[in-house]
Amino acid sequence: MVVLSPELQHRLRSPLYIGTVALHSRVLQSPLSGVTDLVFRRLVRRYAPDSMMYTEMVSASELHHVRKLPKLMEVDPQERPISIQLFDCRPDFLAEAARMAVAEGADTVDINMGCPVNKITKNGGGSSLLRQPAIAEEIVRSVVAAVEVPVTVKTRIGWSDGEINAVEFGRRMEDAGAQMLTLHGRTREQGYNGAARWEWIGRVKAALSIPVIANGDIFSVESAVRCLEETGADGVMCSRGTLGYPFLVGEIDHFLKTGEYRQPPTPAERLLCAREHLQMLWEYKGDRGIRQARKHMTWYTKGFEGAAELRSRLCQIESADEGYRLLDGAIAQLQATGDRAVVALA
Ligand SMILES: Cc1cc2nc3c(=O)[nH]c(=O)nc-3n(C[C@H](O)[C@H](O)[C@H](O)COP(=O)(O)O)c2cc1C
Repeated sequence: MVVLSPELQHRLRSPLYIGTVALHSRVLQSPLSGVTDLVFRRLVRRYAPDSMMYTEMVSASELHHVRKLPKLMEVDPQERPISIQLFDCRPDFLAEAARMAVAEGADTVDINMGCPVNKITKNGGGSSLLRQPAIAEEIVRSVVAAVEVPVTVKTRIGWSDGEINAVEFGRRMEDAGAQMLTLHGRTREQGYNGAARWEWIGRVKAALSIPVIANGDIFSVESAVRCLEETGADGVMCSRGTLGYPFLVGEIDHFLKTGEYRQPPTPAERLLCAREHLQMLWEYKGDRGIRQARKHMTWYTKGFEGAAELRSRLCQIESADEGYRLLDGAIAQLQATGDRAVVALA
């Protein structure tokens, strides 16, 4: 348990402005490839209606060549605030893609400069831009010139321990016209391993005038509060903590606004949410949705006593009905045992 200090509550009371866009929550849902589609965002937003959410990252080159809006970029007209995240190394393609993003309804356009995946970095995108700050700057300038909405950047603290350049890089992004910087406190070399180094986020926050959002290892109300206190950041962005737990952003937001903990979902409620997630994915994407649902289902059933068998069967489902049967059985057992355990499956 943690107590919200009056200083922190005061600091976070006012809306957060990304240029002209006012956010009424200091907790953001990160872009997650293969996860933060329209369905997932709808679930997160149910518990965190004010939070900024991001699409999965979209390749500007692919948009240029295919010239058809991918499902990845689909935005529900009611979901606000929403940012579309793009990646690439070509300033002209990114400018063009940003215009398409705005036409689709993006409130802000975010440029990915943090992705560590080889396929992306070897083509000059994602975190490789940390080593090409002049190109990164050109990208931001070109996108800012192309659209009316605020342009933001999400990046890491550096390429490797020997090349940590977050402060200098952040300054250059700000000078080029970025209106917010989200900083994942790991290097590219770290991938997702080791602790996020929030001290670097604090240094970048102290050096910039635009809002800085802290990202990395925000898994609970406690970690969010500690991170905001240690870094002085303007907000926090949740990532892996939301896998199988779309309640997290709302729980932190509620605490920061009220100083009180929101009642966490019971195991049965989590499985009910999993069931709804499965149904929405099936309705939205058909068979592809079922394949994607498998990983979500395993995340939802993590940490449950006696759920190993349920988990292993859920990650092999071939149809929505098969998933509903498994989940309904488990929910009924949880309800019968006072939410204690999923002991056996029929
Ligand atoms: C499965 C997965 C997909 C991700 N996809 C994206 C993405 O599309 N765009 C992006 O900027 N970051 C992406 N990230 C990075 C996260 O947004 C975040 O920066 C990182 O996970 C650190 O936060 P955490 O320690 O709280 O997980 C992804 C991370 C994971 C685990």
